[in-house]
Amino acid sequence: MNLFDVYPINNIAISKAKGSYVWDDQGEQYLDLYGGHAVISIGHTHPHWVKRIEEQLNKIAFYSNSIKIPLQEELAAKLGQVSGKEDYQLFLCNSGAEANENALKLASFHNGRKKIIAFNKAFHGRTSLAVSATDNKNYIAPVNESDNVIFLPLNDEAALEACFKKQGDEISSVIIEGIQGVGGINVAENSFLKKIRSLCDEYGAVYIADSVQCGYGRSGKFFSHDFAGVNADIYSMAKGMGNGFPIGGIIIAPHIKPKHFQLGTTFGGNHLACAAALAVLEVMEEEKLMGNAVMIGKYLREELEKIEELENVRGRGLMIGFDVPEKYKDLKKNLLLNQKIFTGEAKPNVIRLLPSLGLKKRDAEHFIEAVKEELAAP
Ligand SMILES: Cc1ncc(COP(=O)(O)O)c(C=O)c1O
Repeated sequence: MNLFDVYPINNIAISKAKGSYVWDDQGEQYLDLYGGHAVISIGHTHPHWVKRIEEQLNKIAFYSNSIKIPLQEELAAKLGQVSGKEDYQLFLCNSGAEANENALKLASFHNGRKKIIAFNKAFHGRTSLAVSATDNKNYIAPVNESDNVIFLPLNDEAALEACFKKQGDEISSVIIEGIQGVGGINVAENSFLKKIRSLCDEYGAVYIADSVQCGYGRSGKFFSHDFAGVNADIYSMAKGMGNGFPIGGIIIAPHIKPKHFQLGTTFGGNHLACAAALAVLEVMEEEKLMGNAVMIGKYLREELEKIEELENVRGRGLMIGFDVPEKYKDLKKNLLLNQKIFTGEAKPNVIRLLPSLGLKKRDAEHFIEAVKEELAAP
């Protein structure tokens, strides 16, 4: 049997990983500033994470949601404490798309409406509603095409206001990444998020903060939406939540009430996933990783801004993007091949940095030197 060929891949087989480093099957070491699509939050194979999962594996790995799973309550309490959203309710699932799917669906159950506002360049996942709210025609199959999604320009308050004025009583939810990831590291302005909050309040719509990529401390705050100083009604999470163990979830404001059977999942919130997610939060707190993301992120952005060949350095914490002029279009490839550094990209010419939140200063310095070396290469 062959694999279904859906991705262009790097011809590298990673067989070992630790912290911000990975090694291929030839023993070659790489600095990982991509974390496998922003997933590695506390560092590869973190000892506490490994221990927590190992211990849990020897007790029980899985049972369905038909029984009480105290680890879920433990996770909800810890998540409330670390995120500061203590009065929210937690629903667990398995991935980012599934989290958004549940968020959009729950919003519609809540207010009985059908229309969703999403933004240009948004990426919310591959499942049916999530992909309908994703601004990329190539990902949307005919069966996913929907008149229920309205795309507006990001950070355009006038367009948002006009849309609500025209059909505010039909809008079920507004879904927005605090920092667009796949779209190229585009930061939603604080004033724009405040505007979403006030229009959602005025018209009875649900504000969904897609925090799958920009959440879980990556921006230096637990949710990047927190920079705006307003609360969303639902936050979706995944990626960094399990540090590589598949888990996703939504947290839901207290005014949205649960009803039996509206949402459900077989695997979501299983014992092993909860143990992994608890380990992540414990390490984030113990090692003050959000503070590290602020500090190292600031250093990286300042140093990148000094490199005159690069343009439009942007982002928050350890979610950083910059534009690479056409002349240096092979920079990402050369960083990997020559410097043994993984970075991410966004089409057509953006390099994305999404390292572990525990990235060390010396590794950040090494990256800056490597970029300079590659830009100076003939
Ligand atoms: C902002 C955002 N939302 C949702 C998703 C989908 O997550 P998953 O691939 O876990 O389904 C992604 C994945 O890249 C994402 O970046």
